[in-house]
Amino acid sequence: MQFNIITIFPNIFDSYLKESILGRAQKKGLVEINMHNLRDYTSDKHRTVDDSPYGGGVGMVMMVEPIVRAIKDIKQSDKTTRTILLTPRGERFTQQKAQALTRYDQIILIAGRYEGVDERVAEFIDEQISIGDFVLNGGELAAMAIVEAVSRLIPGVLGKDESSREESFSDDPSREYPQYTRPEAFVADGGPELKVPEILLSGNHAEIAKWRKRGRKHSTEHPQGKA
Ligand code: ADE
Repeated sequence: MQFNIITIFPNIFDSYLKESILGRAQKKGLVEINMHNLRDYTSDKHRTVDDSPYGGGVGMVMMVEPIVRAIKDIKQSDKTTRTILLTPRGERFTQQKAQALTRYDQIILIAGRYEGVDERVAEFIDEQISIGDFVLNGGELAAMAIVEAVSRLIPGVLGKDESSREESFSDDPSREYPQYTRPEAFVADGGPELKVPEILLSGNHAEIAKWRKRGRKHSTEHPQGKA
């Protein structure tokens, strides 16, 4: 799968992309992540990507021309492509959406900056996505969140252990259960002894599975309390 991020900051994710699971996935050739500098698609000597808004108002608006030129240049006709604009006005990104995006060979992510993007860009994209009800300085972090969430669903990207754990809650990420590792009892600065739930030490896999099924990361009620 090929990801293409159109941005005016093409280098900001260099180190992040080289590390860990995404780094490994690229080395294995499972995922290709290309950063495209929007300024390379401008036609004036100042490489202008934004201008003041028609009708007045504060801030700058990203121009339609360089964005459309970039999309046309990147889009490969032999691939099934999805072109997405990242914007806080977009539809909310979810695990289901990540899953749905795995069926494309090529994903183009446009990271808007400044106060907005010329509305006419909408004619050249497939959808607009927001990663949450908050405003970032630009779509770059949102684009990376999508690259990561989609990549880890591609067969072979996660190791065997990582993916089998994943399968147990991939349809509903809120089903993620509480986890513990050594030590069995932990005390910090004379505080109370924080113990690993007894059930996890029991070796009874059926009961452990039941306990985990009841676990909800966002629940204030601890699964142990319901045992
Ligand atoms: N750009 C700025 N804020 C954003 C958000 N929450 N989601 C996607 N793109 C954004």
